[in-house]
Parts: sequence; C-alpha cells; structure tokens
Amino acid sequence: MKRSSVKELLHSDKFLQEIHVKGWVRTFRSNRFIALNDGSTINNIQCVVDFENTNEELLKRITTSAAVSITGTLIESEGKGQKVEIKVSNLEILGDSNPDEYPIQPKKHSLEFLRENAHLRIRTNTFSAVMRVRSTLSFAVHKYFQENGFNYVNTPIITGSDAEGAGEMFHVTNFEANQAPLNEQGNIDYSKDFFGKETNLTVSGQLEAETYAMALGKVYTFGPTFRAENSNTTRHLAEFWMIEPEVAFNDLDANMDLSEDFIKSVLTYVIENCKDDLAFLDNRLAQEEKSKPQAERSEMGLLEKLNFVANNNFKRVSYTEAFDILRNSKPNKKKKFQFPVNEWGVDLQSEHERYLVEKHFKSPVILFDYPAKIKAFYMRLNDDGKTVRAMDVLFPGIGEMVGGSQREERLDVLKAKMAELNIEEEELWWYLDTRKFGTAIHSGFGLGFERLVLFTTGMSNIRDVIPFPRTPQNAEF
Ligand code: 4AD
Ligand code: MG
Repeated sequence: MKRSSVKELLHSDKFLQEIHVKGWVRTFRSNRFIALNDGSTINNIQCVVDFENTNEELLKRITTSAAVSITGTLIESEGKGQKVEIKVSNLEILGDSNPDEYPIQPKKHSLEFLRENAHLRIRTNTFSAVMRVRSTLSFAVHKYFQENGFNYVNTPIITGSDAEGAGEMFHVTNFEANQAPLNEQGNIDYSKDFFGKETNLTVSGQLEAETYAMALGKVYTFGPTFRAENSNTTRHLAEFWMIEPEVAFNDLDANMDLSEDFIKSVLTYVIENCKDDLAFLDNRLAQEEKSKPQAERSEMGLLEKLNFVANNNFKRVSYTEAFDILRNSKPNKKKKFQFPVNEWGVDLQSEHERYLVEKHFKSPVILFDYPAKIKAFYMRLNDDGKTVRAMDVLFPGIGEMVGGSQREERLDVLKAKMAELNIEEEELWWYLDTRKFGTAIHSGFGLGFERLVLFTTGMSNIRDVIPFPRTPQNAEF
C-alpha cells in the first residue's frame, strides 16, 4: 500500500479508507494513544491502538522516539484537538528506542541542553519548525532570483585572494603542523603547498561574483562563508551561509530597492507557506516574552512583526543623518553607550544600530553613504571625497542583516585606493581586469542567511537556526 505522510492524512477527508504511515512516536499515553510525527508537519497524528487485542510485549516497545510502521483506517476523530485519527489495525516497530537512555523527554528542555544534542534536537517541535522554515526560506531565495532573471553562480570556497578585508580567514593547507617547509627567509614556503600558494576559506564570494555580473548581468551566490573572528555573540557564526546578488548597471538606489524587495518577497513567501510552523513559533515567542520583565518585552508578536516588515517601507537614512540622531540621543548624552558617538566618522556598533531600529525608527533601516575610512576598498567613492556608496540594512532584534555597496568602477580611483591600503595589484589582477575591459557601474550586497532565519523564526541565538553551528571552541558533530 502506498505510504502517506502525516501532513497528507491530517488534511484528508477520505474517511474509512485503509492507510499506511511511518514515523516516530512522540508520546504514547494510556496504553492507547500514539502521537505520531514524520517530519512532514509540526502536527502529530493520533493513532489509536486497540490495546486489549495487542500483545503486551509490543505495547511496551511503543516508546517516545521509536520508529514505527502503521496500517489502519483513517476516521473522523471524536477526541478534542484533532479532526482525524488513525484506528490502528497493524503496528510494527521498525526501530526501538530505550526510554531510559533517550535524552529528549517529552518536556521543555533548555536551548543550551538541546545545543549539546544537536543531532537529536531536530526531533523537537521548536527545531523541526525552525528547520522547515529555514528550508522554505532557501527555496524562496532561489525562487526570487530565478524569477527575476538572475543566474546562480557557485563561487569558490577555497580562495587564493585575501584582499576582501571582511574578516579573519581560516587557512587551508596540506602541510602537517610543525613540518611545513620554510623558504630562505625562514617563512613557510607555500609554493610547495597543495595549491602552490597561500589559500584560505572564503569570507565572501563577492569579488568573483562581480566578474560574473560583468557578463551575465544579474547573478547571485548562495553558499557557505567562513570567518575566524573570535566573536562569541548570538549573531556570529564561524561558518555561515551568505546570499550575494551582484547586478551590472545598478546604482546604490537600485541596490537598496533590490535588497528591500528581496527581503519582503521571501518573508511573504514564508508567511504564506509555513503557516503551521510560524503559528507554533509565534506562540513559543509569546511564552518566552512572558518570562521577561515588561520593559524588555517586544511590542509585536512574531507574525505581526513579519507582516509589518513585509508590508512597510524600510527607512533610508544616510550615515551623517544617523550620526546626528545618535549624537543627540538620550543614551549618548547620558553616556549610556559603551562607545560614545561624538566624532563624525566613528564606526557604528551594534548598540547604535539597535538604538536606531528599535528605539528611534521602530522599523528596518537602510543606512547609506558611510565614511570611506570604515568601509572596504571596493566601494564607490562619492564626490565629497570622504564617503562611499555603502549600505547596511539594519533589523530590529538583529542589527546588521545586509551589507552592500555600489562598487568602484573607475580603474584609477580603485587603484589609488588599493595603494592607500597597501593591497597589492598583482594579487587582484583579475579583479582589476573587470575595470579595464568594459567597466560599468554595478552594485551588490551580502545577506547573512542565518540572520534572516533568526528574524523569521523569532529565535534569539544564531546557533539555534543552523543545524550544526560552528563557533569558537565548538565543532562537535
Ligand atoms: O557585511 P559583510 O561582511 O559583507 C560582505 O561580505 C560583502 N562582501 C557582501 C557583498 O557586498 N556582496 O557580510 C554580509 C552579511 C552581514 O550583513 C551579516 O548579515 C552576515 O553577512 N554576516 C554574518 N552572519 C553570521 N555570522 C557572521 N560571523 C557574519 N558576518 C557577517
Ligand atoms: Mg558588514
């Protein structure tokens, strides 16, 4: 008999027909009622066992997390809380689970405990909901770009250029530690290494994506990126997934439009296609909020917040305007910021970004035209000579969701900037070629996928929205 998913059965009204389903026992109560889940939905289907006519040994093996195969009849449920249930005619244990050893009990566990059991935490409602939303978001990302004429580009994970300056890199080498050959100067001789040069894990696919945008017009990457910063925060991972569109002939305004339209579009898709999971996560967040002091509670529920962002314009504010707002803000005057905002040109810290989005604007904000000194070498210099066409999209509860810019397309200006920062032209000869042969204005941005999942699911730690998080001192699994 064809096997149905729990999701299909819960939506079915073809009663009294024989059905077949496989899954894992979530709970078994009164020796009668199995709550069965197979991952297809957050909801369980109730399977009713005729315990009087079932062998006692078999009943004992129906424990939380046992894998079972069931055939039976789909009937309208008489019990509360569900529309349909299964009257079990045959039950087979596919895999036993010893209830004394199984760590995930049907009760509330702390997220810290579940993180240590990342291989099993996916069996909880919270994590299965988060990961289904994550999967749907990935699909929505590809759907958006594919439907808008973008080509998906796979940029290299191992890279020989480290000029991006986006963060500390992980070295990739085939040398044994302490046995690396040295050159005459006593430095490691990478010419003898696997690639014949020093290589690293990429921090961003942008520079390579730019070369592709100069031929394919509109491209995007969606892949893993790596940063070896020792940032132990709820917003940083050492391995995370980044989405980087790059578009020829787009200026910064078009780039801001793209980022806003893209984010709204994927959120709308998830709101429409993950109703059950989002309803669960909305409720979960509401419970969490209740345990916080009144002043710290968020003003909106999860769904309300997602709909708000999907349906309202992001505020667009220049760095200079934001600087003025921050300098004159209460926390700055009362010296409440850890990093005071006094001089134009200071880099904005996450406390400033959060003040702007959470307290001042109460909405996502796109900051643009940053001081050149605090941004990367490839950003286009404005006519004022001191700001660049950079943009960051800041989100409530998250801080920086997107970082991007219009790129410097003028060869002489780009070269001068590289010289100023001691970036060797030889190292980026291929990048400079794009400015020599048919250069054109172009723009792009990078969105940290886990930060988007964090916002969408209302979780508060980035380690809880990627299956197996990589952070300093932690690479289990
Ligand atoms: O602002 P970033 O460093 O920008 C770049 O890498 C550019 N090359 C992107 C581009 O223009 N194509 O990183 C982009 C985004 C950040 O806004 C943030 O959302 C995310 O990547 N991000 C991280 N996410 C998780 N953990 C980390 N350690 C992250 N570092 C950056
Ligand atoms: Mg950034």
